[in-house]
Amino acid sequence: MDKAKRKAIIAGNWKMNKTPKEATALLNEIKPLVADADCEVIACVPYVDLAAAIEATAGSNVKIGAENCHWAASGAFTGEISTGMLKEIGVEYVVLGHSERRQYFGETDETVNKRTKAALAAGLKPIVCVGELLWERECNITEEVIARQIKLDLWDVTEDELQNVVIAYEPVWAIGTGKTATAEQAEEVCAFIRAQLAKLYNQEAADAVTIQYGGSMNDANADELLSKVNVDGGLIGGASLVAEKFAAIVKAASK
Ligand code: 13P
Repeated sequence: MDKAKRKAIIAGNWKMNKTPKEATALLNEIKPLVADADCEVIACVPYVDLAAAIEATAGSNVKIGAENCHWAASGAFTGEISTGMLKEIGVEYVVLGHSERRQYFGETDETVNKRTKAALAAGLKPIVCVGELLWERECNITEEVIARQIKLDLWDVTEDELQNVVIAYEPVWAIGTGKTATAEQAEEVCAFIRAQLAKLYNQEAADAVTIQYGGSMNDANADELLSKVNVDGGLIGGASLVAEKFAAIVKAASK
């Protein structure tokens, strides 16, 4: 399958930024700028912003995602949010396994896998993040790290379910550092991820999966990154908080 047949997806990951009022204001700025987009446009926002974000984007082409979810339907998990809670208010996507959750909040491939399966079972579309640390790249084990994450994070995910999974390749050394992976580095790993998916499932299933790049992607480098055959979109941190920059990336993906 060629790239043109895959769904290009540009998603903002707002991380811990914007109050509900600020979220509404930013989305109202973004909406008209991306109204003609020829790609999927998503804003993944903090939990308390979700209701306001869904209201602000009603009737528009901007979809809303959460930044995490728990695997249990309910129970004694203080501070966690279930897939049912997200579904009921109209959330469509959920970022899982982000490196910040892995680094600061003890997320493991096992918990990413549990969350991914729960999200899929609830009808949410997970954006599963994988990526190597700088040390791991320097030790030349990027492929081993990525292969392990893909295998474990998607353990027991069926081929049918895979069609609702988005993979985000986010080299940890490129996140929030201003150090973007070169387009060649991004392509190399995104192609490797697709090859792993082909091994675990089959080529046709792998060819249909949207694989995003994330890590200091911005309005200046999006064109080049998105021109690569296996880079189908972007997961955008800092630049997603500035309407014009985010819209420029959406435009680059719409070409
Ligand atoms: P930055 O675009 O700020 O580097 O963040 C990338 C990211 O972590 C998106 O999930």
